[in-house]
Amino acid sequence: MEKTTLEISLSTPDDYAGLVEIDHLVWNEQTTPAPDIRWDSPQDYGRQFPAGSQIVARCNGKVCGYIFYKDVFPIPSNLHVADVAMAVHPDFHGQNIGTELMLAVEKSAKDKGKSKLSLRVLSTNEKAIRFYKKCGYLEQGRLVGEFYLNGQFVDDLLLYKHI
Ligand SMILES: CC(C)(COP(=O)(O)OP(=O)(O)OC[C@H]1O[C@@H](n2cnc3c(N)ncnc32)[C@H](O)[C@@H]1OP(=O)(O)O)[C@@H](O)C(=O)NCCC(=O)NCCS
Repeated sequence: MEKTTLEISLSTPDDYAGLVEIDHLVWNEQTTPAPDIRWDSPQDYGRQFPAGSQIVARCNGKVCGYIFYKDVFPIPSNLHVADVAMAVHPDFHGQNIGTELMLAVEKSAKDKGKSKLSLRVLSTNEKAIRFYKKCGYLEQGRLVGEFYLNGQFVDDLLLYKHI
């Protein structure tokens, strides 16, 4: 699918159906330790992720990706760290949308006083690992054999980036 216009801004209720579509397409045993998660409806999604809680990318008006962050531990000594999660619609992979979303979340997190971003990625998710390393993330740890997926034990990589 061609990318012509890209708009990135906070989520609204109009985005929920597109965000549900992305989740149902991208999450599987290679990309998440909880591949069975399914949303019952856009409203169900909105209850978990209210408007404004995510940054959404839209190509020609179609929701094509999202990113958000949350506190790791809600204690004062850890408030400078934020944990990131993201996905891009498969029709739009490799078109720099993930990179644009990452830049947007870095700016938003910095504006909120965060100085370190962290994330967890399955060691089998090679595309995502390559993407994160390209974005400047480094490995800070590895939970060995943390998940049992597709008949094998899979490590969880802990990545971080100072912003
Ligand atoms: C990881 C992800 C967010 C990247 O988004 P994207 O919009 O495709 O990323 P970009 O177009 O900005 O890609 C930048 C780099 O990522 C890597 N990459 C992205 N898509 C790739 C693909 N399909 N195959 C191989 N490498 C890929 C490449 O290194 C690429 O650099 P290049 O352009 O020099 O080749 C996207 O693939 C995705 O949503 N994956 C499924 C969900 C997921 O795994 N999320 C992370 C869970 S921790």
